[in-house]
Amino acid sequence: MTVLQTIGLEYDYADGTNALTGVNFEARKGEKVAVLGPNGSGKTTLFYHFNGLIKPSKGEVRVFGKNITKIDIDDVRRRVGLVFQESDSQLFAHSVFEDIAFGPRNLRLSRDEVTERVSHVMSRFDIEALANRNPANLSSGQKKRVAIAGVVAMEPDVLVLDEPTSGMDAGGITDTLGILEELNNEGKTIIISTHDSEIAASWADRIYILNKGKVFKSGNPGHIFSDEKIISEAGVRQPVIVQTYREFRARGISKGEVPLSVLDFMDSVDSVRIMNIRCAIAGCEIWAGDRVYLRVKDGMIVADKGSKGVAGIAILDGKSGEDIAVKDVVGDIAQLTGKITVFRVPGIIEGGSRAADVEKIRDFLENNRNQKVGAMGTSAKVLLRKMGLKYDFEFDVIQSSMLAALRGLNITIFASGGMADRVLEKVKERKLNYQCFKL
Ligand SMILES: Nc1ncnc2c1ncn2[C@@H]1O[C@H](COP(=O)(O)OP(=O)(O)OP(=O)(O)O)[C@@H](O)[C@H]1O
Ligand SMILES: [Mg+2]
Repeated sequence: MTVLQTIGLEYDYADGTNALTGVNFEARKGEKVAVLGPNGSGKTTLFYHFNGLIKPSKGEVRVFGKNITKIDIDDVRRRVGLVFQESDSQLFAHSVFEDIAFGPRNLRLSRDEVTERVSHVMSRFDIEALANRNPANLSSGQKKRVAIAGVVAMEPDVLVLDEPTSGMDAGGITDTLGILEELNNEGKTIIISTHDSEIAASWADRIYILNKGKVFKSGNPGHIFSDEKIISEAGVRQPVIVQTYREFRARGISKGEVPLSVLDFMDSVDSVRIMNIRCAIAGCEIWAGDRVYLRVKDGMIVADKGSKGVAGIAILDGKSGEDIAVKDVVGDIAQLTGKITVFRVPGIIEGGSRAADVEKIRDFLENNRNQKVGAMGTSAKVLLRKMGLKYDFEFDVIQSSMLAALRGLNITIFASGGMADRVLEKVKERKLNYQCFKL
């Protein structure tokens, strides 16, 4: 189902500046859409149309299939929540609590319901400590968090965020994208604007590139970034992984489709070639021509003169701790991978975790030492924090975990609600060794 659509959208500002021309845009239910474009390309102007802040000079805006002019504007704003690029345009109350409570109060919820919703989003955004602060005195990253929280508290079906990560530090970006991912898993359609192609490539299901008020190109990230020339013409940068891939491909090392993640990139590398020059760290003295066996130690492939597993021939001499190269590898290096254990933590809407779960987790970690730990989603993070457990991965958890497993490390992922299913899907796709427990 199409939730937001523009058809032949054109917009001219009062001073005659033409900001948009012939823009056809579409977001379907449950999609994550990124609008990517340089400064002044029309992202903000486009987003203003999505909840009726401005009216097209020409063309049409449709919300849930209906022309926006035919729907009550309050209804539109209940269903489509817009987070402004400038948080100062959004925040106005004297305290963070009041600011977030404003929307839910307007929905005529009871006093208790309002308090409940506000506490819930404040915990989700980790801003409880700011509840009584004046938004005007917050840092720009904090303001942004509060502004996003205020719109999330309205529980709209579609969240439109104009540059949600600008001005945020690495932790803030991680948290924000994590929350958006989680909201998307709960069924919300999410539309963001950004000029960061790394974020667009790794996050979006679909990308629109805007340039000088026109849609330059649209499609899934693979389609968008496979076209090198068009990207530079549109004034956006190639993601580093794509640039690296092109350099590798030009040297005959990589092939296939443009990768958007480190995992995809590893797939693009011609494995036969790489296996034959695989570097390993010698566990003992090795001479060129020796038969060696590969195994995994602390997340790295090492070679020694054992007798089991994946065999190869050393082509360099090496002492313990030195790099050597190994050729003619016989056997499947994939058999050295670690195991991924997934704990499915009930999502917040499913009631969160219980005391019994804590025991189960402690038992597991007691019996399975040296696990790298990943946390996905609010309820998983809350549970781990409550238990005083640290986690190694909190962003890009699926990919980081699979990469670590491919290096032989054992991983435990705590994933909230439906996110666990996504982990399992990906892990199965790669045929990695896994097990899953429901809490
Ligand atoms: N109030 C206004 N009056 C006149 N022109 C405007 C107004 N606001 C924006 N514009 C112009 O409209 C065009 C699109 O601006 P818009 O703010 O939509 O771009 P943007 O892609 O959001 O840019 P940025 O990345 O800097 O946020 C620009 O040429 C800009 O100068
Ligand atoms: Mg803008």
